[in-house]
Amino acid sequence: MRASPVFARLDGDRTSVVWMACGDALDCLYLGPPLAADEDLVALSNAASRGRHENQPDIPPTGGLLPDPRTGWRGPLLAEFAQDRAPVIPRWTGLKIETSPDRQTIGAGWRDEDLALTLSVSWTIGAGDVITTRTQFLNAEDRGLRATRCASLLLPLPRGFDHVTHFAGRWADDMRAERVRLTRAGLGWASRGGKPGFAGGDWLVFDDAGSGAQLGFHIAATGDHEVRIERNDDGDATLVAETPIPAPGASMFTTPDALIAWAPDPDTLTHAFHINARERLTRQYPNPPRERRVHFNTWEACAFDFDEARLMRLAEDAAAIGAERFVLDDGWFKGRSSDRAGLGDWTPDPVRFPNGLGPLIARVKALGMDFGLWVEPEMVSPDSDLYRRHPDWCLHAEDRDRSTMRGQLVLDIARPEVSGFLFERLDALLAQHRIAYLKWDHNRDLFPAAGKQVRQTLALYDLLDRLRQAHPQVEIESCSSGGGRIDFGIMRYCHRVWPSDNNDPVERARIMRSWSQFLPLEVLGNHVGPSPNPITGRRTEMDFRAKVALFGHMGVEADPGAMSEHERSVLAAHIALYKAWRGVLHAGDWYGLDHPDPGIFAQMVVHGDKALALAAQTCFSAAFDTAPLRLEGLEADAIYRVTLPRPWPGKASLYLPDWQTWESGLTLSGRALMTQGIALPLTHPETAWVIALERLPQ
Ligand code: GLA
Repeated sequence: MRASPVFARLDGDRTSVVWMACGDALDCLYLGPPLAADEDLVALSNAASRGRHENQPDIPPTGGLLPDPRTGWRGPLLAEFAQDRAPVIPRWTGLKIETSPDRQTIGAGWRDEDLALTLSVSWTIGAGDVITTRTQFLNAEDRGLRATRCASLLLPLPRGFDHVTHFAGRWADDMRAERVRLTRAGLGWASRGGKPGFAGGDWLVFDDAGSGAQLGFHIAATGDHEVRIERNDDGDATLVAETPIPAPGASMFTTPDALIAWAPDPDTLTHAFHINARERLTRQYPNPPRERRVHFNTWEACAFDFDEARLMRLAEDAAAIGAERFVLDDGWFKGRSSDRAGLGDWTPDPVRFPNGLGPLIARVKALGMDFGLWVEPEMVSPDSDLYRRHPDWCLHAEDRDRSTMRGQLVLDIARPEVSGFLFERLDALLAQHRIAYLKWDHNRDLFPAAGKQVRQTLALYDLLDRLRQAHPQVEIESCSSGGGRIDFGIMRYCHRVWPSDNNDPVERARIMRSWSQFLPLEVLGNHVGPSPNPITGRRTEMDFRAKVALFGHMGVEADPGAMSEHERSVLAAHIALYKAWRGVLHAGDWYGLDHPDPGIFAQMVVHGDKALALAAQTCFSAAFDTAPLRLEGLEADAIYRVTLPRPWPGKASLYLPDWQTWESGLTLSGRALMTQGIALPLTHPETAWVIALERLPQ
C-alpha cells in the first residue's frame, strides 16, 4: 500500500509551489499561479495521478525531485556516486521535509545509513517570486565513496511547457534568442571554458503555447555548467542543471543556485527577474550608489593608442558632452602596448604615465567626473614581469606547451600566494587613487584546468568579496569579451555587466532586448561607439546610436574629437535626455513591445506616472507605413500626454505629419495607446524614436 502523502508548500504573491512526499519519494506536484490556502492538496494529487500503461514497471516510477533508478526510472538522476569507479546507488530513506519559520524555504533531506551519506534539496521563494534551488551533499565517513555528479536542480517540467527559448551566441553576437520545440531527442547545452560563456543554456524561458504561461530558468554558476532537458516516452520532460563537483572525494558541498520563476506572461516573468536582481543589488550595495553615471570609456575611442596628454584631451571632450565617469580601459599598465604583453603587472606604465595615474585622475576629478579603471586580474601575459618572476603561477600541465589565447595565460588564483598578490595589487591601486569603478575583464577560457575550474570560480568569488569588503564604495563590472560571464553568482559582487563587445546599434538593439528579459536596464552597460563600428564595419547615424544606448546604463566609447560638431551636439542632447529619464529607466517596469515588423526592436519602461519607450528599426521595412507601435503597462483609463522628445532622427522626421503636435504632445487614454498604438515613420533602416509619456492628473 502506498504511504499517505505529505505536502509542503511555498506561496508567493503570484506563485504557489506544492511538494508531495510519498514514503521516501518526493515530487513537485504543483508549480503555477497561487492556490487558495485551503486548496485540497489530496484532491490535487488525485487529479494529477495516472494509471499504469503498457510497457511500464508494474509500479510506475514517479521520477520527481529525487528519482530512484531502482524503481525503473530511466531518466536523469539528481546525484550519482561511485566507489572504486563502480557506480553505487544509494538507498535514500528517512525523508524529512521542513518548512522554514518564515515559510519562504522548503527543504527535504534523505540519508543512506549504510553509506553514511546525506542529501538535501531546498527551494526558497524570494523577491519577485523567483525560486532559488540548491542541493547539498554530505559524506560523513570516508569510505572511499565519491559523488560523481550532483545537480543544482532536477525539475520535472510541468506539462504544457513544450517550447523553450535558449540563447545561442558567440563573441560580439551575444544572446541570439532561438525558440525550439521540446522533442523526444532532448536538448542540452554546456559551458566548458570555465565561465558561463556565450551559449551555455544558462538562461532559458519555457513557454506553454496554450496558456501563454512562462517558466524562466537560470543557473547562477560563474564557471562551467551543463543544462539538459530529457523527455521520455511517456511525454515527461525533466530539466537538469549542474556544475562539476568542486573536488573529487569532497566530503561535503553545496551546489550553486539555480533559479526558476513561473509567470502568466513574458512581461511578468521579466518583472520577476528584475525585482529579484534589484533586491540582490540592494542587499549588496546597502547604501545605493548614486544614479548610474554616464560613462566615457577609452576602448573604442583610442584602444592602445594613447599617452597622458591624449587622455587629458579625451577627458575634457568627454566632460563637455556630459560624461560623468571617465573609464580608462586596457593599455594603462606596465608594458601593455598591445594585447600581447603586460597582464599581471598592475602598475601604471612609466612611459605613458611618467608621474603615475595621479595627474590624470586629478584632471578627471577637476572636470567633475569619477574615475574608473579596466583590469583583467585572473590573467598573465608570458611577456610580463609577473610571468618572468613566477612562471609556475599559471594553469599549466608539466612538460606541455602553454597554449595561449589572446596571447595570455590564466593564473591559478586558487593558490593563496597568487590571489594574495592580486588582492595586494588591486587593494593598493584602490587605496592610492580615487577609483570609483573597476571594469573586471576575463578574455580567455580556462585551460588546461584539469578539474580546477570550480576552485578557480570559488577563488574569484573570494577575491571579489575581499575587495568589496575593503572598498565597499567601488562599483565593479563583470565583462568577459562582452557577455561571456554574466550570471547571478558573479552579480553578488558586481554592480553592472557588459552585455556585449558589439556597440553597433543594429546588433546592440537585439542583444539588449535579449538580456533585458532577465536583467534590469541599470545593470546593462550600453555605449555609443564610433562609426564605422570597429567590429561590424557598419556606418550609422549618431542619432540612432545614441537612442539605442539610452536604454541601459549609458556610456560613450568613441572619440568626441573625431566627431562632427553636429554629432557631438546630438550625442550631448541624448546624454541630457538619459540624465532626465534614468530615474524612470532604472527603477520602472520593463516591457518588451511586440511589433509585426521583425526589424523593429521596441521596449518601454513605466515608473509611477511616467514612461519612456524606444522603437528602433534595424532593417528596411517591407511596408512604407509600418504598423502602429502598441504600448504596454499603462493604466487603461488614465490619460497620458505623449511627446516625441528631441532630437529626432533627421530623415524620418520629414515624414511626421503635424510635427508640432508631437512636440507639444497628444493626450490619449492608456487604452488607446495599448490597443491602437501610435504610428511612427519607421520605414528606413537605422531609425529610432523615443516616446515620452506622462500620466495626467485625473
Ligand atoms: C575585452 C572587453 C572590451 C575591452 C577589451 C580590452 O575585449 O570586452 O570591452 O575592454 O577587452 O582589451
